[in-house]
Amino acid sequence: MTAPFVRTLAELRRATRDWHRSDDTIGVVPTMGALHDGHLSLVAAAKAACDRVIVTIFVNPRQFNQVSDLDNYPRTETEDARKLARFEVDAIYVPDVSQIYPDGFATNVSVGAMTDVLCGAHRPGHFDGVATVVTKLFTQTSADKAFFGEKDFQQLMVVRRVARDLDLPVDVVGCPTIREEDGLAMSSRNLLLSDRARIKAQRLHEIMQQVADSLRQGAEFSALQAEAMASLDAAGFTDIDYFELRSCATLSLLERPTEPARLFAAAWLAGVRLIDNIDIPVSG
Ligand code: PAF
Repeated sequence: MTAPFVRTLAELRRATRDWHRSDDTIGVVPTMGALHDGHLSLVAAAKAACDRVIVTIFVNPRQFNQVSDLDNYPRTETEDARKLARFEVDAIYVPDVSQIYPDGFATNVSVGAMTDVLCGAHRPGHFDGVATVVTKLFTQTSADKAFFGEKDFQQLMVVRRVARDLDLPVDVVGCPTIREEDGLAMSSRNLLLSDRARIKAQRLHEIMQQVADSLRQGAEFSALQAEAMASLDAAGFTDIDYFELRSCATLSLLERPTEPARLFAAAWLAGVRLIDNIDIPVSG
């Protein structure tokens, strides 16, 4: 089946109006393209839960804080459409910038304290860009459900907060992180890794798992953090933006997983920023 590309808001509105008239539920999977199996698992979840599915592909300039990062972001539209073919989605919405941020666009959606930590602390303005674009995508698609990966856990929390605070009638569904065989979390940025760097990249998840095991056995996080960061350094990671244990509910720092917790990491390898997080069972 050929991909049902939709490039304008007017065209998208025509389609969604008909679907709503027939009482069809609409699911949206927001992406920036360069689709991998992680994205496809979101599409599968949307297909299972909704009558109509829209995949959006928009490399959102507002969420990049470095021009070079935006320029280097992989763009693979034809390949993306090929990967989506088997899911028979109802629309692939590929707006250009004017459809999302028309001339004179002056609104910014900004979420409070939860964006001051983790990726928010290292990428100023990033979550404002995400919050603004998802608000636009939710209203443009009039989706009933929206699907996001837990790999970007802080993003998932931010999007949920936006939907709640702005009374957007969309159910934000979080889906598990999909990993490569060696444990590396799937990400469009993995495409930017050289073969050599790709082999080293698996160490991130391995080291996180080792720390998770020690936490499960009752160790305190501060006793593990420095060693984990030294291991990342030895594995070839150049800068470690963060390696932290935080509460799933509030993102406050924890010393032990005394409440639902996650271990969060972001580190640079050969010029590519990799992030990951893993669930840590409550103990102690
Ligand atoms: O996770 C992403 O790919 C992006 O941040 C999103 C949610 C599509 C917003 O541009």
